[in-house]
Amino acid sequence: MCGIVGYVGAKQAQDVVVEGLRRLEYRGYDSAGVALVADGRVQVAKRAGKLANLDKILAEKPLPASQLGIGHTRWATHGAPTDRNAHPHTDCSGRIAVVHNGIIENFATLRAGLEDRGHTLVSDTDTEAVAHLLEEVLRDGATTLTAAMRVVCQQLHGAFTLVVVDAQQPDAVVAARRNSPLVVGRGEGENFVASDVAAFIQHTREAIELGQDQVVTITATEVSVTDFAGDPVELREFHVDWDASAAEKGGYEWFMLKEIDEQPQAVSDTLLGRFSPSGQLQLDEMRLSNGELREIDKVIVIACGTAFYAGMVAKYAIEHWTRIPCEVELASEFRYRDPVLDRSTLVVAISQSGETMDTLMAIRHARQQRSRVLAICNTNGSTIPRESDAVIYTHAGPEVAVAGTKTFLAQIVACYLLGLYLAQVRGTKYGDEVAATVRELRKIPAAIARLLAEAEPVRELARSLVGARSVLFVGRHVGFPVALEGALKLKELAYIHAEGFAAGELKHGPIALIDEGVPVFVVVPPQGRDMVHDKVVSNIQEIRARGARTIVLAEDGDDDVVPYADDLIRLPKVPTLLQPLVSTVPLQIFACELATRLGRDVDQPRNLAKSVTVE
Ligand code: G6P
Repeated sequence: MCGIVGYVGAKQAQDVVVEGLRRLEYRGYDSAGVALVADGRVQVAKRAGKLANLDKILAEKPLPASQLGIGHTRWATHGAPTDRNAHPHTDCSGRIAVVHNGIIENFATLRAGLEDRGHTLVSDTDTEAVAHLLEEVLRDGATTLTAAMRVVCQQLHGAFTLVVVDAQQPDAVVAARRNSPLVVGRGEGENFVASDVAAFIQHTREAIELGQDQVVTITATEVSVTDFAGDPVELREFHVDWDASAAEKGGYEWFMLKEIDEQPQAVSDTLLGRFSPSGQLQLDEMRLSNGELREIDKVIVIACGTAFYAGMVAKYAIEHWTRIPCEVELASEFRYRDPVLDRSTLVVAISQSGETMDTLMAIRHARQQRSRVLAICNTNGSTIPRESDAVIYTHAGPEVAVAGTKTFLAQIVACYLLGLYLAQVRGTKYGDEVAATVRELRKIPAAIARLLAEAEPVRELARSLVGARSVLFVGRHVGFPVALEGALKLKELAYIHAEGFAAGELKHGPIALIDEGVPVFVVVPPQGRDMVHDKVVSNIQEIRARGARTIVLAEDGDDDVVPYADDLIRLPKVPTLLQPLVSTVPLQIFACELATRLGRDVDQPRNLAKSVTVE
């Protein structure tokens, strides 16, 4: 959601900014724009639609050379995605340009006040008010753009990352953040600000985190950060270990295909370096003592979208291995139901981006109730891990396609590691039992690689179903969240109606949806879990008896399913709890292929954003 880039340095700002926006496209957007400072003026170009539309007007009418610029990809909230509402926005005099991510909740009052004082606002956005407020504060005597920014930020309510330039200060870009993402990239004779590091890793891998309510000013050679009162704050620097080429398509038709193929690596990297020399499992950042972890009497996992389904898998593993009750809740619902939380509750927030506003607000609520918070996150330097007591990073590398694939598997692995860690600390599993499970986890990358190598029949199946109007997915135990994820991928990518159900629930309602030829995917548990396995085999028969086309995912050697499977997808044998790491993969491939055949934009599905930074 909304990508932001700011640049000061010796290169052509337009090129650096537009390239940065391209690398943030994955966040999801519906218009784009840039502003440069040149010839004592702010020069703006912006267009509704994809970056190609902006490229076209820049090619027809290039902006003048400039060493300083800002850019924005907008995911519309206030006002339709039109040229007029696209960012940057300017003030009455055309001196200031502003880009913004977030929602300024008091914008209506601010706008009314500005109009009363004679300003003319031309867009429907909340953002434009900021340009005019800066204009006023500078006119009233603020000596620098930075000083004006501090004054204006104190008048704003809600969530914002703001990046601004002033034609009268052509050497600096000023930015501020509250509840929305912003990082600084520190280069040689050039500096950057951006929504995330992907925008600048081809230029520098040295970055600085910005805390809540901070203002940063970058020039070509300096970075200075203060709070909104103007007091300097300590810089929190970090090194980005992502390889710049990891965010390139590398010959694949879609980023998603590349990311599906990267899953063996994502799983093995997430497992890497987890053991101390004495054989103890260790996590990335643990600011909770073993004593505190032993006091925990309840775990609540909160997350959104795909990460929520990873959380559902976590529940099975955590309860089984630790005997601690574990709830899973949508982050967007969590704080509104007044959850029962105290110091002995461990809240686990799962978020690929580390910026999802619903999840962030949920962890803040949990911390206010004195609960401990552990983040499972893929993005170093993002807000959710920064505001948590402990972090497990999913070392999946950058994920560009909007719909999650490799990060889902890495999140599940991180959840297992958490479950095993708690079991180790609390003594509910012996060291050798923990080590045995980790050994099984280490075999998973090879199992996924096999599924990837044998995926052609899954793609063929997808091609045979291009006309399907509805596809159902069912599973039991950890196969249930896999069914939900399979359905979500298909909805997101192909815009086909798809639903996931618990196999046992089918007879309580959804079975009415089954009609002649309706494709139904069934995720069959390993035979090791005999009771559940047999129940699912019965469910397949019920479905088939009603005319469905059964597409069965079952482990090697499971012959019980053969008579009832119209299509059979074989899964490598793995322990029951770990099966989502393999059973998800064919469902991703299926959704990706079907969407491609339908001519969909697989990497950037309509209406979706990768990082949802509004509630
Ligand atoms: C958005 C994305 C989903 C993602 C969800 C949670 O809705 O489109 O793919 O699963 O946000 O994102 P997070 O970054 O918190 O994992």
